[in-house]
Amino acid sequence: MSVAPAAAREGAATSAANFLVVDRVTCQFGGVLAVNAVSFGVGQGELFGLIGPNGAGKTTLFNLITGLTTPTRGNLRYRGEDITGLPPTGWQSAGSRGHFRTCASSASCRRSPT
Ligand SMILES: Nc1ncnc2c1ncn2[C@@H]1O[C@H](COP(=O)(O)OP(=O)(O)OP(=O)(O)O)[C@@H](O)[C@H]1O
Ligand SMILES: [Mg+2]
Repeated sequence: MSVAPAAAREGAATSAANFLVVDRVTCQFGGVLAVNAVSFGVGQGELFGLIGPNGAGKTTLFNLITGLTTPTRGNLRYRGEDITGLPPTGWQSAGSRGHFRTCASSASCRRSPT
């Protein structure tokens, strides 16, 4: 999976799209490049869809955002805080970061069939 940078997306409101920032996130499982330098920004309250064929890397990307998987390269920022590599557990002390990741995990279960 490879997604254009937020600023390159038509209509992307760059200034409002820093609630969640996915910056050149890459995930490699051995010889499998599951997510390849994916970048986008999501604004607060924005609904952001992720679609793609089987094996495109949707679940992997979601796991990277929620912290279940650590990126091989790239960065994740939530409200300006670097959350790259932070695990989904231990979120009580992480405040807003953990809250987001808990919500994201719940959303995954509720809304995604995979
Ligand atoms: N833990 C893992 N170890 C090795 N390869 C993996 C692992 N998880 C995913 N992959 C591989 O990474 C690629 C992306 O898989 P992923 O499950 O993220 O795709 P997906 O878009 O969610 O697919 P689907 O629509 O079938 O749910 C696939 O080639 C998959 O086989
Ligand atoms: Mg999936």
